[in-house]
Amino acid sequence: MLFDLSGKVALVTGAGQNVGAGIARVLAGQGAAVAVNDIRVERAEDTVREITEAGGRAMAVGFDVTDYDDVAAGVARVAAELGPVDILVNNAGNGGAEGMKPTKFRESDPASWRGPIDVNLYGVMNCSRAVINPMVEKGWGRVVTIASGAGVVGLNIGVSPYGGGKGGAIGFMRHLAVENARAGVTANTLAIGLMPITGDRSVTEALAKQIPTGRTGLPEDIGYACAYLTSNEAEWVTGQTIHVNGGSVTT
Ligand SMILES: NC(=O)c1ccc[n+]([C@@H]2O[C@H](COP(=O)([O-])OP(=O)(O)OC[C@H]3O[C@@H](n4cnc5c(N)ncnc54)[C@H](O)[C@@H]3O)[C@@H](O)[C@H]2O)c1
Repeated sequence: MLFDLSGKVALVTGAGQNVGAGIARVLAGQGAAVAVNDIRVERAEDTVREITEAGGRAMAVGFDVTDYDDVAAGVARVAAELGPVDILVNNAGNGGAEGMKPTKFRESDPASWRGPIDVNLYGVMNCSRAVINPMVEKGWGRVVTIASGAGVVGLNIGVSPYGGGKGGAIGFMRHLAVENARAGVTANTLAIGLMPITGDRSVTEALAKQIPTGRTGLPEDIGYACAYLTSNEAEWVTGQTIHVNGGSVTT
């Protein structure tokens, strides 16, 4: 089977719902044992239930990606229960309705900038730092970060700190890739497009009309891209930012 992840341990952050849950389900379906992280551990437990009911192997691990000590303790719990992390998917971030109040930068409160940078950039750095050395020692590892078109192009919808966090993560991942390429560890970013946003269906529907394929993304669309990038078959793909967006952002 192509993209067979049997024997691998995957950690997916922010996987208690939406995109992260879809990624966790797909990686488990490819045979990985999946550590499902979420700051709201009850959400992670829901995803674990879905995976185990479908015959997969998973555990819930609650930690806050913005706190390095909390991340390191969580990664140690995963190693004790499933084994060292082979695959990290940095998905935790601001998704839509939660934690995002779109505001033009010139009207923004400086106190509102740190949150998006913390979760979308520091979160990626904290989790990557906590898993990278065992990957290098093993001579095999995969890191995928879920960024956004907003980290690559400017949008006139009031999300500049979010764009800064995602753009920072894209730059960080390129360095992670080059520093660890000889050790068999790849690092790639998926700049994803609009997923259905909980809360305001009318906004989602209006934006969906502008997507060339005519629909917003599904969590599994992102999961399938992760299955490829985290497989043995993708060993020559590293340092890339791949747009998965129905054709809506071209650079
Ligand atoms: N929804 C979209 O349209 C869209 C578009 C482009 C990029 N993205 C990116 O995709 C990723 C997933 O988006 P989503 O729509 O599924 O988001 P979501 O808000 O629906 O889910 C994110 C999950 O992450 C968890 N989380 C938040 N902060 C955390 C932290 N500090 N530590 C651990 N867990 C934390 C939340 O509890 C939540 O369960 C995010 O990185 C987001 O920025 C989303």
